[in-house]
Amino acid sequence: MRLAVAGGTGAVGRHVVAAAEARGHDVLTLTRHDGHDLETGTRLAAALAGVDAVVDVASVVTLSGRRAREFFRNVTGNLLRAERAAGVAHHVALSVVGIDGVDDAHYAGKLAQEALLADSPVPVTIQRVTQFHEFAAQVAATATYGPVTIVPKALIRPVAAREVGARLVELAEGTPVGGRARDLVGPRDERLADLVRRLHAVEGVRRGVLEVRFPGPFGRSLATGATRGGADAARGRITFDEWLRSGDRAAVRAPREGAGARE
Ligand SMILES: NC(=O)c1ccc[n+]([C@@H]2O[C@H](COP(=O)([O-])OP(=O)(O)OC[C@H]3O[C@@H](n4cnc5c(N)ncnc54)[C@H](OP(=O)(O)O)[C@@H]3O)[C@@H](O)[C@H]2O)c1
Repeated sequence: MRLAVAGGTGAVGRHVVAAAEARGHDVLTLTRHDGHDLETGTRLAAALAGVDAVVDVASVVTLSGRRAREFFRNVTGNLLRAERAAGVAHHVALSVVGIDGVDDAHYAGKLAQEALLADSPVPVTIQRVTQFHEFAAQVAATATYGPVTIVPKALIRPVAAREVGARLVELAEGTPVGGRARDLVGPRDERLADLVRRLHAVEGVRRGVLEVRFPGPFGRSLATGATRGGADAARGRITFDEWLRSGDRAAVRAPREGAGARE
């Protein structure tokens, strides 16, 4: 099938592309790097001609809820309009486990995205997942101030972006669910601060890690492990320590703008 991957160069996008190519699909990536700004959506319908399914893993790094909502609404709205015009049969979107009722900027954007998808003119599947193993590296890259990395107190169940990418391709190949598929979470519970310390150790970084409890419902949900997903979620198999020793760690790209944790 012909598959378009919005955000196909990102932490998870590159794994979606690799999984799709390994399964013999014809892949088109939609990123600004490839000349497609999904926030403006210019020439998008023409680009989607002949595409069977779109996997949307585009993202923005911002601490502003307004900006996050604007980004995800613009990108999702433009994609869905262009997909409808081009006759695309399936839109698969990636979201985050545990975002309901939590006052985080990125989560506000994801909820706005899910709300648009609820009225989609194109059949949809939404896959919620927990933080990626790559998230520890994203935090280390954005929340480091001189000799210290500041990490929110968080009990999480991280999953390998590689497994998320494979899952999204499987979903794109299948019949649209018409809402949320079964959540996907990682194999083990981990403290985010420990992950960053282990990452620093493997990379030979001599930097302290300061664990800080974030205020409000967001801080509480992170600290208490409310973002780990329920017992009925599907479980990934790759542990953080296996990921640390893999080539996937070295390939992590730092986000472009902003600072601070996103999920
Ligand atoms: N990171 C996590 O731990 C985590 C956990 C659960 C779910 N998620 C979800 O996974 C998705 C992807 O996250 P990620 O961490 O993989 O993101 P990322 O590494 O920051 O990659 C973002 C991708 O979006 C593209 N992009 C950004 N702005 C764009 C624009 N205006 N037009 C076209 N493309 C644009 C980027 O390419 P260009 O810069 O070239 O445009 C890049 O390919 C998000 O929806 C996020 O909510 C992430």
